[in-house]
Amino acid sequence: MIIKTERLILRPFLETDAADVYEYLKEPAVNCFACMKLNSLDEARKEMKKRLDETEYYFAIALKDGGKVIGEISAYLEAGEPHADEAPVRDTFSPCWMLNENYQGKGYAFEAAHAFFAYLFSQKGARRIYAYTEDYNLASQHLCEKLGMRREGVFLEFISFVTNPDGTPRYENTVQYAILKKEWDQKQLGQMR
Ligand SMILES: CC(C)(COP(=O)(O)OP(=O)(O)OC[C@H]1O[C@@H](n2cnc3c(N)ncnc32)[C@H](O)[C@@H]1OP(=O)(O)O)[C@@H](O)C(=O)NCCC(=O)NCCS
Repeated sequence: MIIKTERLILRPFLETDAADVYEYLKEPAVNCFACMKLNSLDEARKEMKKRLDETEYYFAIALKDGGKVIGEISAYLEAGEPHADEAPVRDTFSPCWMLNENYQGKGYAFEAAHAFFAYLFSQKGARRIYAYTEDYNLASQHLCEKLGMRREGVFLEFISFVTNPDGTPRYENTVQYAILKKEWDQKQLGQMR
C-alpha cells in the first residue's frame, strides 16, 4: 500500500532505508521508543529486513522531493473491549508516529497522520483510533488535538520504559486520546463546507 499526500509518500520500508532510519533511531527521541534504539547501521539493515513484510500498517514517511525517509507511522490493530462479546471485531487501532528531529515543526507529521487516519477509517475498517502519549510530550498531544482526537484521560504512573539511575523503574504519566469514525467523518464534512 502506498499513500500519497501533497509533500509525502507513505510506503512500506525497503532495505535501502537503513541509513535514513538509523539517523533518527540511533537516539530515540522519547522513552517510549527506547526499545527501538539502533546501535549501528548494521543493526538498522537487519531491522529493515524485519520490516519488509509489514505492508499494511507500518509505513516509512518519505519526502516526495528526493525520497528521503524522514520518519515513520504505524498502527497496532486490536479488538475493542471484549467483555460483552466473545469474538470481538478487530476495529480499533493504536497509532505510533516519529519524525527525524530535523524535519519536525514543518507540518509533515500532521500531513502523514491525517492521510494515515483517512486510510484506516476508509479502507481498513477502523471504528476507533486511540493514542497514548506521555504527559510531557506536548508535540504529540498537539498532533492528536489537531487530528480532532479527544483527550480521554490521564493514567498516573501507567508504564515504565526506562530505569532510574538506581535501577528502579521510572514510571510515566500517560495521556489517552481517541477519535471515532463518526467523529472523523463529521470533522471532514465540516472542513468541506
Ligand atoms: C510527535 C511528532 C511526530 C510531532 O511532529 P511535529 O513536527 O511537531 O508536528 P507537525 O509536523 O504537525 O508540525 C507542527 C508545526 O509545524 C509548523 N509548520 C511549519 N510548516 C508547516 C506547513 N507547511 N504545514 C503545517 N504546519 C507547518 C506549524 O507551526 C505546526 O504547528 P501548528 O500545528 O501549531 O500550526 C514529533 O514531535 C516527534 O517525532 N517526536 C518524537 C517522537 C514522539 O514523541 N512520538 C510520539 C510518541 S507518543
